[in-house]
Amino acid sequence: MPDKIITIERHIVEQQRAYPEATGVLSSLLYDVALAAKIIARETTRAGLVEILGLAGKINVQGEEQMKLDIFANEMIIRMNSYTGRLAVMASEEMENIITVPEEYEAGKYVAVFDPLDGSSNIDVNVSIGTIIGIYHRLSTKGPGTLEDCLQKGRQLAAACYVIYGASTMMVYTTGNGVHGFTLDCSIGEFLLSHPNIRVPAKPKYYSVNHGHEQNWSPGVKQFTRWLQGLDQETARKPLSSRYIGSSVADFHRNLLKGGIFYYPADAKRPQGKLRLLYEAIPLAFINEHAGGYASDGHCNILDIQPESLHQRTPLFVGNRELVEQAEKFISRYDK
Ligand code: AHG
Ligand code: MN
Ligand code: MN
Repeated sequence: MPDKIITIERHIVEQQRAYPEATGVLSSLLYDVALAAKIIARETTRAGLVEILGLAGKINVQGEEQMKLDIFANEMIIRMNSYTGRLAVMASEEMENIITVPEEYEAGKYVAVFDPLDGSSNIDVNVSIGTIIGIYHRLSTKGPGTLEDCLQKGRQLAAACYVIYGASTMMVYTTGNGVHGFTLDCSIGEFLLSHPNIRVPAKPKYYSVNHGHEQNWSPGVKQFTRWLQGLDQETARKPLSSRYIGSSVADFHRNLLKGGIFYYPADAKRPQGKLRLLYEAIPLAFINEHAGGYASDGHCNILDIQPESLHQRTPLFVGNRELVEQAEKFISRYDK
């Protein structure tokens, strides 16, 4: 825990000083994201009350329709960012097409891609969920942003962040100058710096995968998993412990702090994998790489993949570099 109390606002502004050419727009954008995160956090903590206050999808006592949390989060992020003049275009898991800013507002120079609520199957059972956001510079030069602005390689990201709504709410972000984590102090409504300069621990602790899909895995993924468990005959190693939540943000966050690997491989039922490249895999891969880790689709760096469509899926292996590289080795050896 650092001695000084540093709010996320102050931290973002101080980070901006590392880039003398910066105009402050990205800083303001990150601060907008932090504000949206606080509002979503307020709703997630009330999620258990829907039974009392009205079920999602039903009409509440005021005659208003209650929104599902993922739709609420989606609308909140879009509403908070439509009129600021900072974004040209957005893309969301919840929207089929790109979201251009309304004509009455000025289009900005940035692009945001996001998964508004990650881990939705965990909402009803009070288990950690999250939000993931990637921010790019626009490629187009004027007018409303385009699909091409959204389909950029992860390498081009200007910033990435995620928010985890867990025992406490945390926001973790990078602009390419270290990865920094903030914990929401609900009593004052501020995100305070709690995890400066996060680095993936050298010694990994956990592996995280849905073992329920094991029967559909390729020989390479099966053998890699046996290696993680210390069961590979050729290269016996100390087994890692298994942990799996089923929210990418939460599985990634735990392993970022404790060391390990989170993977959602391609399998016989899902040959493209399950997770979405643009707004799940890429932002997490970018944060992970800036914390000293590595992310792959099993063959190459996630950040080097050119996205071809908004909702494209990808296999994902993310965490300590040597574990992810080992996954690539097993896959290239066994999955010809
Ligand atoms: P989302 O809730 O945004 O649709 O994402 C769910 C994803 C991801 O968060 C998680 O890693 C994965 O689904 C869990 O899938 P399984 O239930 O198949 O393990
Ligand atoms: Mn998701
Ligand atoms: Mn989602």
